[in-house]
Amino acid sequence: MNPRKLVIGNWKMNGSVPRLRSFAALAAAAPGGCPAALCVPYPLLPAAQTLLAATPLLWGAQDCSAEDEGAHTGEVSARMLAELGVRYVIVGQSERRAAHGETDGQVALKARRALAAGLTPVVCIGESAEERDAEQTALALRRQLLQLARTLGRELGAVVLAYEPVWAIGSGQALAPGLIDDTHAVIAELLAFHAGLPAGTVPILYGGSVNARNAQAILGRQQVAGVLVGGASLEAADFMAIWQAAAHQGREVSGIGA
Ligand code: PGA
Repeated sequence: MNPRKLVIGNWKMNGSVPRLRSFAALAAAAPGGCPAALCVPYPLLPAAQTLLAATPLLWGAQDCSAEDEGAHTGEVSARMLAELGVRYVIVGQSERRAAHGETDGQVALKARRALAAGLTPVVCIGESAEERDAEQTALALRRQLLQLARTLGRELGAVVLAYEPVWAIGSGQALAPGLIDDTHAVIAELLAFHAGLPAGTVPILYGGSVNARNAQAILGRQQVAGVLVGGASLEAADFMAIWQAAAHQGREVSGIGA
């Protein structure tokens, strides 16, 4: 697995230009060699481009349209995001699936549009509390991955996946690191079986109540390629601590030493 762990922040419907400025100030002294991106609301993207361009911190978006262009009021295309220097775009985050009725099929189409525009989609998958209670986690993940494999074919190898147990998001209760490892291993097996992608081809992030205190233990897990961080990505000091933890793991894994 690539030892460089990836940190993606999801600001959701939060943030401001002054907040971005405080991130830019801290990011100037960021750990090298370990990619990190902040996915901000659309109106903040031009400011992100201006303020972060000279720092190692990348910027991204939280959604994109499943369409290329045309009569889709309120939608934003992946190509428009690419023009604003966006590198990563989150698709299928559970709040969009729940509040906007996004289906597995639509999420897969969004990922395809993002890839076509040269962006890296961070595709969120995960089980609901009901599915977990019914011991249907693997089944739910399989359903979501099958749709991605069907729509994307070999291109599935170019996405980043984020495993986010829906019940863990914003709850303060991250999944235990050992269980994260186990579930990531299940996802890797499903990718190998249904998409012919060998383990390690698709980076699998973990998301759901990651914070500055638990990041090190989660990022230390072999199967975890990085983290998708919501609430804790809003405070520059917390985000930087998580980024530092990721950089530290990267060095440990590649044997360069801390
Ligand atoms: P959280 O959000 O870190 O606040 O749980 C994660 C996410 O929704 O991506």
